[in-house]
Amino acid sequence: MKYEISITKTTTPAAKPADESKLGFGKIFTDHMFIMDYNEGQGWHDARIVPFGPLPIHPASTVLHYGAEIFEGMKAYRQANGDIALFRPMENIRRLNNSAERLCLPQLDEEGCLDILKTIVELEKDWVPHSEGTSLYLRPYLFGNDPHLGVHAVKNAMFVVICSPVGAYYAEGIKPVKIAIESEDVRAVRGGTGYAKCGGNYAASLRAGKKAEEKGYTQVLWLDGVERKYIEEVGAMNVMFKIDGTIITPALTGSVLPGITRKSCVELLKSWGYNVEERLFSVDELFGAAESGHLEEAWGTGTAAVVSPIGHLSYKGNVYEVSNNEIGALTQKLYDELTGIQWGKVEDKFGWIEFVCRG
Ligand code: PLP
Ligand code: COI
Repeated sequence: MKYEISITKTTTPAAKPADESKLGFGKIFTDHMFIMDYNEGQGWHDARIVPFGPLPIHPASTVLHYGAEIFEGMKAYRQANGDIALFRPMENIRRLNNSAERLCLPQLDEEGCLDILKTIVELEKDWVPHSEGTSLYLRPYLFGNDPHLGVHAVKNAMFVVICSPVGAYYAEGIKPVKIAIESEDVRAVRGGTGYAKCGGNYAASLRAGKKAEEKGYTQVLWLDGVERKYIEEVGAMNVMFKIDGTIITPALTGSVLPGITRKSCVELLKSWGYNVEERLFSVDELFGAAESGHLEEAWGTGTAAVVSPIGHLSYKGNVYEVSNNEIGALTQKLYDELTGIQWGKVEDKFGWIEFVCRG
């Protein structure tokens, strides 16, 4: 089912970024945004694309007090043949609905949501950057918007999509990042909201992230919230380790975000004949492998971060260097294959690319 979308174009379009090497991540926004309202009686209604600008929010809105917010992160790519395409968008849409279910927010029609994403990307197609390593990042988000202070499942909500031309998420680009394993704060627990992409998970992560940054680390690697022993994920990425030729990645136990890049990397690695173990993986096992020289490579996977080599791991004062702080051969191969598919330079054998429009 498609939502009926009205389009009001801006009369004051902004200039596109002149130097794409300075895009960074999420600092520039396109000319338009998508908004749709929900209430219990009408369901989703008033789907509209309007000029980019502030949202009018009631001061008592649920999102401002109780954090009823979920979001997605996905990218539109300018492909080698000139097409603009999305990467596995249905995976994001399904995850958005799973997150909505966890926070008692309303569901979106899957086909309708895909149509919304394609409509805004097509309207903003000139904002999809051209240079290697760049893309148009889409941030769909959905929040509870009841104008009163009682704590209840919401009756009013808003769905918004904003778009931002981006380059690399980390200032390091594809160079190895330094990751601090957090031993005090936890990000999520089983039964909580870890598997949902909700704003609160990120708010809870900020203190440890700030502490790590002050010590010169790029991001935090979280351990499980109960035993503080098993590796879960990084602030904005899932993690994978290559040990004696086998790939180990933490299992999706409920407190880890089921990353779409993670899923794609697992599928690619298996198609290349690698043994991939999705299981509980303790920090002791990781450092045992590091100390005995069996840890060959470590990397993170995520839409924003793509495939990002991990060069340093620190835990309770001990620091381990991985792959001599250089990008490992398999990390590079995964990065090349994945971005090759996304930018239409490598055959899309898995059917992951969703055509949007001609560029
Ligand atoms: N884990 C967290 C906490 C994230 O924020 C992200 C980014 O979206 C990921 C993992 C990777 O997920 P995906 O590959 O779907 O972007
Ligand atoms: C993404 O990779 O899309 C993310 O959501 C990461 C982030 C900036 C929170």
